[in-house]
Amino acid sequence: MTSPSDKALVPFVSVDNMMRLVHHIGVEQVLIDLASYVENDFRRWELFDKTPRVASHSDVGVIELMPTSDGEAYGFKYVNGHPKNTSEGLQTVTAFGLLADVYTGYPVLLTEMTILTALRTAATSAMAAKYLAPKGSDTMAMIGNGAQSEFQSLAMKAIVGLKTVRLYDKDAAATDKCATNLQGSGLNVVKCATPQEAIEGAHILTTCTADKQNATILSDNMVGAGVHINAIGGDCPGKTELAKGILERSDVFVEFPAQTRIEGEIQQMKDDFAVTELWQVITGQQQGRRDPRQITLFDSVGFAIEDFSALRYIRDKVAGTAYKEDLDMLADPDDPRDLFGMLQRAKT
Ligand SMILES: NC(=O)c1ccc[n+]([C@@H]2O[C@H](COP(=O)([O-])OP(=O)(O)OC[C@H]3O[C@@H](n4cnc5c(N)ncnc54)[C@H](O)[C@@H]3O)[C@@H](O)[C@H]2O)c1
Repeated sequence: MTSPSDKALVPFVSVDNMMRLVHHIGVEQVLIDLASYVENDFRRWELFDKTPRVASHSDVGVIELMPTSDGEAYGFKYVNGHPKNTSEGLQTVTAFGLLADVYTGYPVLLTEMTILTALRTAATSAMAAKYLAPKGSDTMAMIGNGAQSEFQSLAMKAIVGLKTVRLYDKDAAATDKCATNLQGSGLNVVKCATPQEAIEGAHILTTCTADKQNATILSDNMVGAGVHINAIGGDCPGKTELAKGILERSDVFVEFPAQTRIEGEIQQMKDDFAVTELWQVITGQQQGRRDPRQITLFDSVGFAIEDFSALRYIRDKVAGTAYKEDLDMLADPDDPRDLFGMLQRAKT
């Protein structure tokens, strides 16, 4: 038995290493860095391979693959969405991802992405809010206080300058958990008993609930002029959070229209419902917020390029560090055409 050569080894970032890396850099710094990686990739949007993610639906949830490539690197994420999971002691969303070299097709990174997805989703939300939210936005309603909620709050603090977060969840235990986790973050945290109370005085309304249905987390009469809505939880066919009337009064910004029309809040609208692609706001081809009284809506579903950016970031950060281990993941025959011969290495 011989030990694998360098060609066999793929850097792997475990959950443990991801947690240590994030603390080493600092959570808010990671969010800032990720937002800048996502923003840079949105600026070069046109050169990416783009396809709506491949989704396998069941009665209880969805399992998705999210591939993309910039011509030099190829990445994909495996992610699930199972709202019923938390009642069974499991998470709604888990993920892992891989980055590969387009020239050889060889993987260059395998990583946990459950934590990384929460970070990249929050970083993308805050990057969108930077372009779309009213100037001076310092108060956010955070409706849905589950796994994503602290990340969303901290990204808005680090990137948009949020000072106050007003929490609401139908389960008060989730709100207590979120408030406790945000203690000492520098955010003023207000626990609210109703969604109406949570949106009082808020410039940014974030909906981040998990329910496998067309829910009405925000009804039309709850949303006044001059706010930015960051709609995170409506991300699957038959799974939405906003009343249709809100969409009719909003300027809607999306990641990749072909995917958002299937999965986002706009699945409630006709196929020709007008939307603006966020990347075009970032490149200056389209206007973001043009009027303080306008309602802007980021209809986020999560797109493969955001995961690609996150994979690039982690690849750059773990290179030459101890925050990774080498996985014996690729067969490495001495003669590339003698795979069978290689198999004999393990013969006893
Ligand atoms: N857009 C994206 O890129 C993206 C990325 C990750 C997750 N998501 C979605 O975000 C949502 C939240 O994810 P999570 O990991 O935080 O889930 P989670 O299950 O940890 O938390 C969801 C929370 O929503 C609460 N909730 C459910 N219905 C509610 C209602 N009617 N009113 C108030 N609160 C309600 C639950 O009590 C729970 O605390 C999910 O739907 C997930 O699919 C989207």
